Amino acid sequence: MHVSCAVLLLAVQVLGNSSVVLNNVSEEWQIKHRKVYDNQTEIVFRRAVWEKNMQLVLRHNQQASAGKHSFTMGLNHLSDMTAEEVNEKLNGLKLEEPSHFRNVTFKDESGLLTPQSVDWRKNGLVSPVQNQGLCGSCWAFSSLGALEGQMKKRTGVLVPLSPQNLVDCSSSDGNHGCRGGYISKSFSYIIRNRGVDSESFYPYEHQDSKCRYSVKGKAGYCSDLHILPRGDEKTLQAVVASVGPVAVAVNAMLKSFHLYRGGLYNVPNCNPKLINHAVLVVGYGTDGGQDFWLVKNSWGTAWGEKGFIRIARNKNNLCGIASFAVYPTL
Ligand SMILES: *[C@@H]1O[C@H](CO)[C@@H](O)[C@H](O)[C@H]1NC(C)=O
Ligand SMILES: *[C@@H]1O[C@H](CO)[C@@H](O)[C@H](O)[C@H]1NC(C)=O
Ligand SMILES: *[C@@H]1O[C@H](CO)[C@@H](O)[C@H](O)[C@H]1NC(C)=O
Ligand SMILES: *[C@@H]1O[C@H](CO)[C@@H](O)[C@H](O)[C@H]1NC(C)=O
Repeated sequence: MHVSCAVLLLAVQVLGNSSVVLNNVSEEWQIKHRKVYDNQTEIVFRRAVWEKNMQLVLRHNQQASAGKHSFTMGLNHLSDMTAEEVNEKLNGLKLEEPSHFRNVTFKDESGLLTPQSVDWRKNGLVSPVQNQGLCGSCWAFSSLGALEGQMKKRTGVLVPLSPQNLVDCSSSDGNHGCRGGYISKSFSYIIRNRGVDSESFYPYEHQDSKCRYSVKGKAGYCSDLHILPRGDEKTLQAVVASVGPVAVAVNAMLKSFHLYRGGLYNVPNCNPKLINHAVLVVGYGTDGGQDFWLVKNSWGTAWGEKGFIRIARNKNNLCGIASFAVYPTL
């Protein structure tokens, strides 16, 4: 019988730090996430990092159950990594050039009536959550998520598109594969290349590889990209409601984001200026009086709410959710 992590975490909470319980939780976690380390030094180091993260999770969740936080944290596949490592290896979003922030052309949607809540998953505009692995390719998943929604609206079919295609082929557009990239330059590539392959034709590999784009696997295309006014959550809401999923940049630097388990992510010190990760807004709503953005990540389904996070909305652009928001047009 596989004992769930939650049960074991509870055991630690009740029985304290007895090494027997800790070893057991640690081993169960390693099995679950298929962790194999190269040598003894690595085993000892990873175990120490893991234990520190677990203590943080326990302390946070204790405070959450006392009503001090609106979200919980949990162990996931990133729990043996330091915050610095996660930010270096996974959060590969490059800062967009200032030129993108000028000459914003977007018609004012404030006059339109926007619905109270939107969840594009219900309309089949959102493909299954993927795991980018230890590759800074978030920018590719984010931009393709926005394009998948527009393609589905056009064709009636939801076809997951290929982040590997962008990782391998968009270097001349300014992207750097697993070492990072830009949402805007993903679309520049697709426009220039006149297409992007499907995930099934050009599967994800978690690492840089040779460009193998073929028009035979083409499943997406676009002709233009639209950048929303910086920091404007009202416009983002209107666009999400009327257009579909929107690619955004966020501050994903904090441990609380790396180990987010569920609930409303409302962290006052999530600075909107420090954006380093690309994700996809797929909707919004209100829960217990607090507005939130419904956001798809690319860290697998073991992270967050089956791969999604709800980030507090209308809290002065918390985590920079509206700092750089983009959608393509076909
Ligand atoms: C477990 O150990 C950590 C640090 O080693 C300490 O902060 C914490 O209070 C301990 N918890 C219990 C229940 O003993
Ligand atoms: C952890 O403890 C549970 C309950 O005692 C046991 O069933 C399980 O086999 C243990 N797991 C490991 C990896 O030792
Ligand atoms: C142990 O493994 C780590 C991670 O793979 C590696 O960086 C390190 O060089 C290895 N150390 C030794 C002594 O082999
Ligand atoms: C818009 O772009 C044009 C040409 O690049 C430039 O001359 C103009 O000053 C820009 N306008 C604003 C408001 O930045």
